[in-house]
Amino acid sequence: MLSASSLPYIEASVPVLRAHGGEISKVFYRNLFDSHPELTQLFNMGNQAAGTQQQALAAALFAYAANIHNTDALGPVINRIVHKHASVGVCPAHYPIVGQFLIGAIKEVLGDAATPPLLNAWDEAYWLLARQFIAAEKKLYDANGLQPGDLRQMKVLSKTATSDEVSTFTLGCMDGSPAGPFIPGQYISVVATLPTGQSQQRQYSLSDAQGLAHWRISVKRVTQQDAAPAGEVSNWLYKNIHPGDILLVSSPFGDFTPALNKTTPIALLSAGVGITPMISVLNTLAQSKCPRSILFAHATRHGATHAHIEDVKAAKNKLPGMVMHTFYENPRPHDRLEIDYTQQGRMRLDPAVITAFSEGFFYLCGPHAFMQVQWKNLIAAGVSPHHIQREVFGPDLLEQLA
Ligand SMILES: Cc1cc2nc3c(=O)[nH]c(=O)nc-3n(C[C@H](O)[C@H](O)[C@H](O)COP(=O)(O)OP(=O)(O)OC[C@H]3O[C@@H](n4cnc5c(N)ncnc54)[C@H](O)[C@@H]3O)c2cc1C
Ligand code: HEM
Repeated sequence: MLSASSLPYIEASVPVLRAHGGEISKVFYRNLFDSHPELTQLFNMGNQAAGTQQQALAAALFAYAANIHNTDALGPVINRIVHKHASVGVCPAHYPIVGQFLIGAIKEVLGDAATPPLLNAWDEAYWLLARQFIAAEKKLYDANGLQPGDLRQMKVLSKTATSDEVSTFTLGCMDGSPAGPFIPGQYISVVATLPTGQSQQRQYSLSDAQGLAHWRISVKRVTQQDAAPAGEVSNWLYKNIHPGDILLVSSPFGDFTPALNKTTPIALLSAGVGITPMISVLNTLAQSKCPRSILFAHATRHGATHAHIEDVKAAKNKLPGMVMHTFYENPRPHDRLEIDYTQQGRMRLDPAVITAFSEGFFYLCGPHAFMQVQWKNLIAAGVSPHHIQREVFGPDLLEQLA
């Protein structure tokens, strides 16, 4: 627990972090990478360039200070970060380095306002949180029999285009043994050695049922959009990785794990490549011909961008309680209404459809704006926020806490 002498300083930091959290975070990463260039291999430099990881760290610090009396609210946030840290190999020895540069950045940005008692309070608060992370990460590593940073080699067994922009890769163990357990919804980190020589890791959700001999990932090729350059790792995978190649990957991690063993309804809402964890869930439910009520709602631009159609069709044949709603934003002339898709436009589920599932849980995955709209729509239809979970394909900006 934070000491009584430090508490007022952390409380008083809330407006300061609102105003300067972004700047503190930027200065932190700049100084950290200047002094420890080796850490750029651990961090996602695409997120750094786009500014999203800086925003996520600023949001996390702000959420921490703002919820210092309501630490229960931070539990799910901490759990997500712990899984992300474990997937990239964060270890206890990293924490003093990060702490030093974080306190240094607060001092640099706040200048004279960063009095010694304020810096001491943040040092204490940092270590309180850091110890929580270290303990939770150790527990996770131990539970999986892993050391931080352990990676495994896996052979690419196949590479298939699942849509115009998504390629799936099936991965098998080098010795032919089964790929190993995971919980549908979880992801692995994939390590890429880019043409510049830089090593980078990215997370990809496992996109097939659990219990199979192989793992599968489905990767959307991120193309250049105006000033935003083409994605580095997705294009590296797309161009350079072929059947027979070896990929270095982490063990599966992730706390987005839709409950499979219940009898209540389950609703899976996705857009674009956000379909990947949902397919893992759906294919696993289909394996056991699960009788539950299942809503599978998906939104994409049109038939050519509609990934994993075959999996969804095959699952539908095995799942008597499955209802499908497919939204095409701009269907092509030959996309067939009622056959390929059920509604034109962006996903807007009818309140009656939502209500039919409101006893169960709703799981969301897709672009930020998509998830915000669905969240509002579900809440407006009477779904409890405790019955909604989401996966973010990037750093979580924690708007719900900030
Ligand atoms: C838990 C989780 C699960 C995921 N699952 C999947 C999945 O199943 N399938 C999938 O395809 N993806 C998934 N992702 C996303 C994936 O990890 C990568 O983020 C994605 O493939 C893009 O990586 P990249 O290296 O190609 O792009 P990056 O090079 O990292 O670029 C990312 C974005 O940043 C922009 N950017 C880069 N530099 C700049 C700059 N200087 N200025 C402005 N913008 C810039 C790029 O244009 C691009 O839009 C998942 C992510 C997470 C966190
Ligand atoms: C108390 C200290 C720390 C806090 C509050 C913190 C916070 C965060 C947050 C909020 C994220 C984003 C999670 C998400 O994807 O939603 C994250 C990711 C990450 N953190 Fe930490 N972290 C801490 C310590 C560390 C340490 C010690 C390291 C090791 C150098 C580290 C390395 C990383 C990496 C590599 C990522 C993934 C970055 C990315 O994908 O862009 N963190 N952390």
